[in-house]
Amino acid sequence: MSIAADSLTDRFGRRHTYLRISLTERCNLRCFYCMPAEGIELRPRQHFMRAAELLTIARTFTDMGVRKIRLTGGEPLVRSDAAEVILGLGQLPVELAITTNGVLVDRFVDTFRNAGIRSVNISVDTLQPDRMERITRRDHFHRIMANIRLLLDEGFHVKVNMVVMRGVNDDEVTDMVEWTRSEPLHIRFIEFMPFNGNLWEEDKGVSMSEMLARLTERFGVDRYERLIDRPNDTARNYRLSDGRGTFAFIAPVSEPFCSTCDRIRLTADGKLKNCLFDHGEADLLGILRSGGDIAPLIRQSIFAKHAVRGGLDTAERFADPVLHGRNRNMTTIGG
Ligand code: GTP
Ligand code: 5AD
Ligand code: SF4
Repeated sequence: MSIAADSLTDRFGRRHTYLRISLTERCNLRCFYCMPAEGIELRPRQHFMRAAELLTIARTFTDMGVRKIRLTGGEPLVRSDAAEVILGLGQLPVELAITTNGVLVDRFVDTFRNAGIRSVNISVDTLQPDRMERITRRDHFHRIMANIRLLLDEGFHVKVNMVVMRGVNDDEVTDMVEWTRSEPLHIRFIEFMPFNGNLWEEDKGVSMSEMLARLTERFGVDRYERLIDRPNDTARNYRLSDGRGTFAFIAPVSEPFCSTCDRIRLTADGKLKNCLFDHGEADLLGILRSGGDIAPLIRQSIFAKHAVRGGLDTAERFADPVLHGRNRNMTTIGG
């Protein structure tokens, strides 16, 4: 297969070298902002990529120039052959990373190390056990916290994701920042984003500027500093002046970072999404199973990518439930 060097570049000159692969739509938690209350429809296995298919598709992407792969879900570690898939992807010439809810991490530390994973992102929306149970509808707080400790002790780079929601957990932003004083953790405060069925309302979101104002009130403006971000970072990074870790804001709602986007997504059922918010999908698994070449479809999909949030480029369009409701829910995209 001859593949042009610019095959991952879109109309706006953005090169897409970062692929996020969802290993499964299933999850062992039920976070209300991610999964619709009624759950998701579980489809038979044949709709989803088998390990060999996933590895073939991933290899096509690395041949085309992808240099980083992040595994997502649902919860990636509930997939029964997760270790086989992770070790297989570890053979590819990429930086491999994973985003998990942390519940099963202790069973995978050796697999991570053997696959070359150095960096693990874990979702923790609260430091209060009873609140965690309300948000996730499951009681796994202590396992998650123990697994974060384990990863730090084992020398992994650990980022903690907190989706900040008004009246749910927004009073804990300062406590989370305090956590980075004593631990080498990287906390990211994520603005609440709208997806199909996730009960999003504009007022439930807390903007980056509001969070920063609260931190200034608590710590004083001279007690934390702005850091230099990497070129394609989604996060704006900061550090307490005496902190071992860092904190950051991911602000796709109030200050989208689409102009530097380098991300594409492969869903567990083998569809390519060129943007988190574009409801259009390219069926790579279908083409692969019919014996076709998936590279032209990948090129086409990337070339057609919208400039901003899958075309939901204004605050009004983004907030419109008809428009964002056409997209999948988060658990079937993978974050
Ligand atoms: P690294 O930068 O590789 O550490 O990963 P990440 O922060 O992109 O990964 P993670 O899976 O931890 O995502 C954290 C949050 O950022 C999630 O809420 C994602 O949905 C959001 N996010 C990640 N990538 C994008 C993106 O391309 N666009 C938007 N709008 N949000 C994103
Ligand atoms: N808004 C913002 N972030 C979300 N995540 C899941 N749903 C949403 C949402 N509606 C986050 C999870 C996880 C990451 C992959 O995506 O907390 O850390
Ligand atoms: Fe990229 Fe779409 Fe996210 Fe913007 S919203 S950063 S274009 S994936």
